[in-house]
Amino acid sequence: MSLAGKHILLGVTGGIAAYKIPLLVRLLVKEGAEVRVMMTPAARDFVTPLTLSVVSKHPVAVDFIRNDHTWQNHVEWARWADAVLIAPLTANTLAKLVQGQADTFLTATVMSTECPVLVAPAMDAEMYAYPGVQKNLDTLAGYGMEVIPAETGELASGLTGQGRMPEPETLLEHLRRLFEPAEGPWKNKRVLITAGPTHEPLDPVRFIGNRSSGKTGFALADAFHKAGADVRLILGPVCEGEQRLPYKVVRVQTAREMFDAVMGRKDETDIFVMAAAVADFRPAQTATNKIKKTGSRLHIELEPNPDILASLGHSKSEGQILVGFALETENEKQNALEKLQRKNADMIVLNSLRDAGAGFGTDTNKITVLHRDGTSREYPLKSKKALAYDLLREMEKYF
Ligand code: CTP
Repeated sequence: MSLAGKHILLGVTGGIAAYKIPLLVRLLVKEGAEVRVMMTPAARDFVTPLTLSVVSKHPVAVDFIRNDHTWQNHVEWARWADAVLIAPLTANTLAKLVQGQADTFLTATVMSTECPVLVAPAMDAEMYAYPGVQKNLDTLAGYGMEVIPAETGELASGLTGQGRMPEPETLLEHLRRLFEPAEGPWKNKRVLITAGPTHEPLDPVRFIGNRSSGKTGFALADAFHKAGADVRLILGPVCEGEQRLPYKVVRVQTAREMFDAVMGRKDETDIFVMAAAVADFRPAQTATNKIKKTGSRLHIELEPNPDILASLGHSKSEGQILVGFALETENEKQNALEKLQRKNADMIVLNSLRDAGAGFGTDTNKITVLHRDGTSREYPLKSKKALAYDLLREMEKYF
């Protein structure tokens, strides 16, 4: 796959391997990619902004303020990119990215982007092996960034060890792979995901709902899409995701609408992933006009909504895989396993409300995956984006 027309944003930090970046820019430009370069102030000691701007045919960003005193908009740069590659990545900028320190144009831009980010750490072998650096690299991977491991060979210090930045041709290969349609087990698999809350109307302006943000569903849809699956997201009312998404999205409001949207595509689906927080009940009546206050108590009668997961579980065909979610507050694993059996699912993702950073609205989650064969696996606290990839791997065992 060529990178023609792709917007590639290169981030250069202050390591000796920066002298190889003009060559990488040349390779990218030759392939038809549009390249912009941002660098940390320290990187200027290793390669000049002038060189990089000549080869990339675009001004290089170092600071938030340009030489002519105008503002360099990091958000605009972040949105422009289809992919970001930070090469070389120093231990210093790595630590800043882990901490969320936005004091350089480069880190602020990377923190603001939603596109895939690759990092190529490069440093001396001892520093690369330092536990703090390795831990930070794991953390970045947990944030959803792809870490290109340093290579082993001769280092600037004269020593030999692991810490070399891969050659520009190898970095180019990593960037190409990002845009290649996957050939793996998910290629052309039809995946249907439910996500977000449902809103059950009481009257024209009020509803019963919940705090689900849909973040897990978005992360899953994105991971499936990147893995080559044919994704359909049945999305309850959430604010996020208003921008164009690269897969099919059906927007619904209520549990019954979600039920209909799912059931209508039942036969065209290979894997169902029910990540939505569906309201178990809806008001038995929806008032035509806004309910007025009267000063006395108001009783609202609720009636049960259809259980989408259970309905699928009891009607799915041979070969269809069904994944549910469970949010338990007590006797967690036992309850989740019972849910799996009762609803005839193949796999249940258990969220625990006990853990800080897990659950609704957060960007991180702590999950345990339970399979119908009784096996299970607990995962540490991770970003929802990183967990989505773990979940894909868990589901692959059903093929
Ligand atoms: N679910 C669904 N339709 C519903 C309710 C839930 O598809 N009407 C799905 C959710 O998307 C989730 C799973 O069922 O994948 C578990 O939902 P949860 O609310 O935890 O379980 P309940 O079925 O409500 O069971 P309980 O209230 O007993 O915990």
